[in-house]
Amino acid sequence: MSLACSTRHALLIALLLPSACDARPSEGVALSGRTPLPLPVGPTPGPKLPAPPVNNPFAQDAMTLNAGRLYFNQYNCSGCHGGHAGGGMGPSLRDDSWLYGKEDAQIFGSISEGRGHGMPAWGVKLPDEVIWKLVAYIKSLRTSEEPEPPDQTVPPPPAQ
Ligand code: HEC
Repeated sequence: MSLACSTRHALLIALLLPSACDARPSEGVALSGRTPLPLPVGPTPGPKLPAPPVNNPFAQDAMTLNAGRLYFNQYNCSGCHGGHAGGGMGPSLRDDSWLYGKEDAQIFGSISEGRGHGMPAWGVKLPDEVIWKLVAYIKSLRTSEEPEPPDQTVPPPPAQ
């Protein structure tokens, strides 16, 4: 019998008869004698991870706002909140009343996490970048920056 083989047998016996063998390594200690690195399982206690940015990292510029408007229609936010976010099955995002807060981070949270009464969580589907552009667009509503505001969607009367 080779050495490796007999070692394996000794180990097998030690595993089968744990009480009969004091030399059995205690759980968690690697056979090599090195302390194993702790494996992170679930939330680990300790200092908090850095919080996501509180303010929109994107500037309220035309490119961001146009992209936000595009996403608003593309992801069917408009289907529930109305074409210009004036409200539908979902609440108006144009008015002054906010159920969950009007700060950048709060609007981001509403979109990313979803809200109890029928607002889907988009964080699982959309990258942060897209959500921030939606936030920028929502914040631009009713301002002079708003891309394609509702009154401009009405075609001007034909020139005489
Ligand atoms: C299936 C319909 C539906 C879709 C699609 C939808 N929403 Fe909503 N949304 C809602 C409803 C309903 C609420 C109110 C939830 C509540 O009262 O808990 C809401 C709430 C919100 C709020 C919070 C409003 C406040 O007053 O605080 C924001 C912001 C928002 N939605 C943005 C979006 C954006 C952006 C999209 C597209 C990515 C989107 N929603 C897509 C139905 C929808």
